[in-house]
Amino acid sequence: MKFEEPTGESLPPRASNLSKVFDVARDTVIFLVLSCYYILESMFLTLVPNAIRPMKSLKGDVVVVTGGAGGVGRQLALQLARLGAKVVVWDISSEGLKKTCADVTDEGYEIVSYVVDLADREAVYATAERVKNEVGKVDMLINNAGTVFGQTLLELSDAAIETTYKVNILSHYWTVKAFLPDMISSGKGHIVTVGSVAGLLGTYRCTDYSGTKFATVGFHEALFTELRVPKVTKLPKMPKVPQVVKVPKMPKVPQVPKVAKLPKVPKVPKVSKVAKVPKVPKVAKVAKLPTIPKVPQVAKVPNMPKVPQGFKVTKGHKVTKGPKVPKVAKVAKVPKVPKVPKVAKAHGHSSIHATLVCPYYINTGMFDGVTPRLMPMLEPQYVAATMIESVRKNEVNCIMPGSVRYLLPLKCLLPAKMCWDLMHRVMKGPQSMMEFKGKRKVAGG
Ligand SMILES: NC(=O)c1ccc[n+]([C@@H]2O[C@H](COP(=O)([O-])OP(=O)(O)OC[C@H]3O[C@@H](n4cnc5c(N)ncnc54)[C@H](O)[C@@H]3O)[C@@H](O)[C@H]2O)c1
Repeated sequence: MKFEEPTGESLPPRASNLSKVFDVARDTVIFLVLSCYYILESMFLTLVPNAIRPMKSLKGDVVVVTGGAGGVGRQLALQLARLGAKVVVWDISSEGLKKTCADVTDEGYEIVSYVVDLADREAVYATAERVKNEVGKVDMLINNAGTVFGQTLLELSDAAIETTYKVNILSHYWTVKAFLPDMISSGKGHIVTVGSVAGLLGTYRCTDYSGTKFATVGFHEALFTELRVPKVTKLPKMPKVPQVVKVPKMPKVPQVPKVAKLPKVPKVPKVSKVAKVPKVPKVAKVAKLPTIPKVPQVAKVPNMPKVPQGFKVTKGHKVTKGPKVPKVAKVAKVPKVPKVPKVAKAHGHSSIHATLVCPYYINTGMFDGVTPRLMPMLEPQYVAATMIESVRKNEVNCIMPGSVRYLLPLKCLLPAKMCWDLMHRVMKGPQSMMEFKGKRKVAGG
């Protein structure tokens, strides 16, 4: 028996498996080498004091801060203005905005404010257009506005839940969609998303608030990947397309000449009315009825000429047979070309930064009444300063206080009952939220 050499066609499955294994091995080695570099870089940057660390300058940058009338927002406006940024504050509270503007201008800096309800998408888009026209291209967007009702799920009205979602997360989509394209075209920008520790650990009386803050984490991480994915993705290899046999040109089909009108069918004369039969007297003999004139026969309609098959005939047109169309040679089947992945507009923009900020309780009145057991509330000045520092370092995540980040892995590693006991018995998280008063009136509907 003759041993046949395996042909090229029988090789691909094994060869492609081998090349896949090789690709994975190569990428893993590159990843491990880079990981060593990232860990060393991170350790070095942690040890280097901020004073001697290069930080991004914000001088002349246009920075939009939403929720600029609130505790953290007002502090952000003040501290950013001190760094030379052109600050633009948005808020629903016109009184609060006046106070922020007064604080900033009292120190001799400029600030622009816009009253806008972030729960209203159209208002957000319209205000963004006004900022672009009146102030200029936005370099940094800080999505800081937030709202909380502090009620259990069954206490929360549907309207309250919707408001929390509109303000705390949906508005991020509208503002980023409004400002990101300009950042992309200028090759410079920064999106800051204010989340919360309640967006990393589910919090008592915060089904709506925690839900939206978890969403901010997902939003930030997904946006970060979109911006980072390199623009030129490797296109799949296209199979060779066999040459297509040339189709012979079709001769022009002569126009169908207009056909002479068909002869008119003679009108059938109306049958004359039958003369009334005179009343016959009962006894007298029946008078002879007058004979009814014969109705002339209807002239026969001439037969229509037969129409050749395959042609549509319009009424009253004679069809002449078209010339024979030569047979078209069979075209070889073209193999399916794999779909080319769409390269999204937002790809390949690593010069546009994204930072997620997740603070613990802040002393702004938003969580008034809450008394955390182990850690005191953070001060808004400290939160704003840490946030700006993190942004100037182009950090991707900023969790406050930093110690919280070491607690997070426990959530996935420890048994759920143990985590609950830690929260309930040791930290007394739910108990402290039971004292929640907050500062906003509960939306009744
Ligand atoms: N305070 C805390 O304990 C705490 C903890 C973690 C995270 N955060 C987050 O920090 C951010 C700032 O919070 P804060 O403590 O300064 O609260 P704050 O209540 O003082 O400020 C929030 C601001 O958002 C504005 N706002 C609310 N709804 C709005 C709407 N529909 N349109 C426009 N503006 C609206 C408010 O008017 C207010 O000025 C929020 O995103 C909040 O969720 C706060």
